[in-house]
Amino acid sequence: MANKNVSVWSSIPFWRRSAAWVTGFASILLVWLTFDSVGQITMGTDADIQKGVTKRVPAPTVINYKIGYKMSAKRGHEVPTIGEKELFFGKEWSPKEAAALLHLGKLTSQSKNCMDCHTLLGNGAYYAPDLTKAWIDPAWQNGGPLQGMTGKNTEEEAMAEFLQHPSQYSTHARMMPNLGITADEAKGLVAFLKHMSSIDTNGFPRNFSKTVETFKAGGSHAH
Ligand code: HEC
Repeated sequence: MANKNVSVWSSIPFWRRSAAWVTGFASILLVWLTFDSVGQITMGTDADIQKGVTKRVPAPTVINYKIGYKMSAKRGHEVPTIGEKELFFGKEWSPKEAAALLHLGKLTSQSKNCMDCHTLLGNGAYYAPDLTKAWIDPAWQNGGPLQGMTGKNTEEEAMAEFLQHPSQYSTHARMMPNLGITADEAKGLVAFLKHMSSIDTNGFPRNFSKTVETFKAGGSHAH
């Protein structure tokens, strides 16, 4: 009876060793993944943009450029593109000015709690439209219905006007309330939205272009 051969599956030392190996391997994997993610989400520099180096999160000076959205056959979804230079609120912003403006926009988005109603980069609510790619929505661009309703001639001025007086320009069944946003805060928010649209989000939100198509079709019905 004594010294019965036990199977490996019921051997305590075996499970102890396995636990130690699994924990060790998982820790190394997590450290590697952390460094990989930090590398992917670290903001690029103005020099990267000028040299055409693609970063998932471009420098704040991306607000000085046209942002596009192109289907990538290789990746199976759309990817933001940085095009030619364009003025933003009538000027070109230095790296320092662009960073300060973006910072103001970010702080304003937090203090006014846009996420209570909107989704930004996957966080927030779906009471109101997803804002992750709002800047590249053609409805805000030249000739688009949202820009048109504000009576402004540029996308940034139209968005800034809307943000200061949203209840004057309701388009959906739900209305955005006036949040007491000042002219400067509105500029910052628009920079924040433009920068956000240039972030490579692996095609999130899914089918953004298709929702835009639907919106345009709906818009033309209204005429
Ligand atoms: C209380 C809810 C609420 C909050 C808070 C809110 N919004 Fe909105 N927002 C809405 C609703 C509802 C709409 C749709 C209104 C319409 O089109 O008439 C909207 C529309 C918009 C639009 C235009 C829609 C589009 O697709 O481009 C933008 C841009 C926008 N909001 C930005 C912001 C920003 C930036 C903040 C934070 C400073 C914010 N909103 C805070 C409810 C909200």
